[in-house]
Amino acid sequence: MCGIVGAWMTRAGMDDIADVLVEGLRTLEYRGYDSSGVGVVRSDPGAAPGAVRVARKMGRLENLEEALKGGALAGANVGVGHTRWATHGEPSDENAHPHTDGTEQIALVHNGIIENYLELRAELEAAGVVFQSETDTEVLTHLVGRRYATDGDLAGSLRAALRQVKGYYAVAVVGNRDGVTELVCARQGPPLCVAMFEDGVMLASDVLAVLPHTREVTYLSDGDLAVLSPGSVRVERIDGEAGEAVERVATLVDWDTEAANKGGYPHFMLKEIFEQSEVLGRAIHNRLLPTQGDVQFEGDGWSDPDLNGIGRVQILACGTALHAGIVARYLIEGLARIPVEVDFASEYRYCEPVVSPGTLAIAISQSGETADTLAAMRLARELGAQTLAICNVQGSTLTRDCQKTILTHAGPEIGVASTKAFTAQLIAAYLFALRLGRARRVLDEATGARMIEELRHLRPKLESLLTTEFSDSIRKIAERHVNQNGFLFLGRGVNYPIALEGALKLKEISYVHAEGYAAGEMKHGPIALIDPGLTTLVINTKGRVADKVRSGIEQVRARKGPVIVLGSDEGSWSLGDDVVKIPETSEWLSPLLHVVPLQLFAYHVADLKGCDIDKPRNLAKSVTVE
Ligand code: M6R
Repeated sequence: MCGIVGAWMTRAGMDDIADVLVEGLRTLEYRGYDSSGVGVVRSDPGAAPGAVRVARKMGRLENLEEALKGGALAGANVGVGHTRWATHGEPSDENAHPHTDGTEQIALVHNGIIENYLELRAELEAAGVVFQSETDTEVLTHLVGRRYATDGDLAGSLRAALRQVKGYYAVAVVGNRDGVTELVCARQGPPLCVAMFEDGVMLASDVLAVLPHTREVTYLSDGDLAVLSPGSVRVERIDGEAGEAVERVATLVDWDTEAANKGGYPHFMLKEIFEQSEVLGRAIHNRLLPTQGDVQFEGDGWSDPDLNGIGRVQILACGTALHAGIVARYLIEGLARIPVEVDFASEYRYCEPVVSPGTLAIAISQSGETADTLAAMRLARELGAQTLAICNVQGSTLTRDCQKTILTHAGPEIGVASTKAFTAQLIAAYLFALRLGRARRVLDEATGARMIEELRHLRPKLESLLTTEFSDSIRKIAERHVNQNGFLFLGRGVNYPIALEGALKLKEISYVHAEGYAAGEMKHGPIALIDPGLTTLVINTKGRVADKVRSGIEQVRARKGPVIVLGSDEGSWSLGDDVVKIPETSEWLSPLLHVVPLQLFAYHVADLKGCDIDKPRNLAKSVTVE
């Protein structure tokens, strides 16, 4: 939810670690952006040598940068930083991280939730501690600080404090006592990686913060505590003994720093929408076997007998990933004839799920760190399901906790509104359904080969939608509808989840009410909403249900509701007030084309309304709390 970073640089001439920390925070801002701060160990005229100094500012990172102008915290080469998505206490300077214990000895940043903080806070207050904020984090800070003040061992103090707390955390602390500086971090739940390179060491919530320095990172496991110092990163266990190191293998990350830049686009969201044809290329690279009419996945794939043993699939996901899961349901049932259920991960956990022998649980997640998805997948595993992650982040908790992984290869997605990650999830679902269908002999070689051919022909069609002209045409439509009171998105079959996704995109970045519905359901209730102030976007592709959807469009028109028609069904084009013509492809692949104009529509409506597209209000990119 929040982003944390820590660095200790030994580069010659390095005297303002705040610059490095802010540079890291900029790449983590997508994780939370209601306040930010840094804490460093510096020698300050008038202060004790090595005193910890902190700068914290409510609002966007620019506010912190402003506060740091002129080298306000210069003279330091070690520190921690944080960008916040508020859970306990409103966004304010006081509630921003890092927190201190009031002694200038430590600065602590935290991502997660301390569940027993009220109880601990009462105990600390009874012992005379005066709190400066409403956060759960400050409790942890005082627990660490009180111990550190007596024994001067920061790693030991953090370990002891963490043994008292219940909850989820990625936490980093910098401390200085008697001129000795220490930098430590620990993880239980939210992600944390550490890295060592020629002129420094770093820790961060996301590898993006480390990429400008190195591509070799080590992901900490739950229960790990790391001690960082120049030239050394030692990983221990929170429940282990001090000095007892455990081995963690470093990973070479194949993302580059460019991915974390806007590359000339005004927003990450637009850049990521336009990257979708490259994503398609990457997602199918080395995976197609045209002559066998089949596909393959890297790593330890399942054998045909394994795949034949799957009797049922449960898909677990949240938000956009859930919509990809619903598309996957249509694909797997249609192409491999296996029954599929799709559940909100947050519901699955509490609905007494039944996992029968032969169940495969597929967890879909861009980040691989969504708390609900992780918990649902773990429950499915405990109940006996095999587990497969469809995930964008190699090394994420989800990929490490599942037995198998299909990486989606979308590259880093920074815009809070998911776009290219969704496209990549759809491609992974298509490939997996095809593999299942072939293994189970539901699809013959010729059908498999035809499906691969259709997939290969998709790229130019997708590219025809990823042009400035096409985007401008969608903007013109957006201009005509931007002041509507609400929007209804309708789709049917495999395009029903695309209607859900179109509505989610619009509401999350433009704050307009939008609903997605199965087109055939409209007449059972939502039709009551139709009036000139509500625009209905209808997806209609050539195929089995095109004429049924057409009659739905007529029903909206008969009630004077403005209609935007989108799809390859020519018979629908004359029925819309606005029309978005989409190239023809197979019905199974049509979601990949339909989602693009819907993403662009949401983008342009939000832009016309002056909304903060990459950082919509109240949202964070990864929801790592329940
Ligand atoms: O990282 P995940 O794919 O697990 O995230 C799931 C949802 O939180 C995410 O898709 C969310 O709905 C996005 N804001 C959608 O744009």
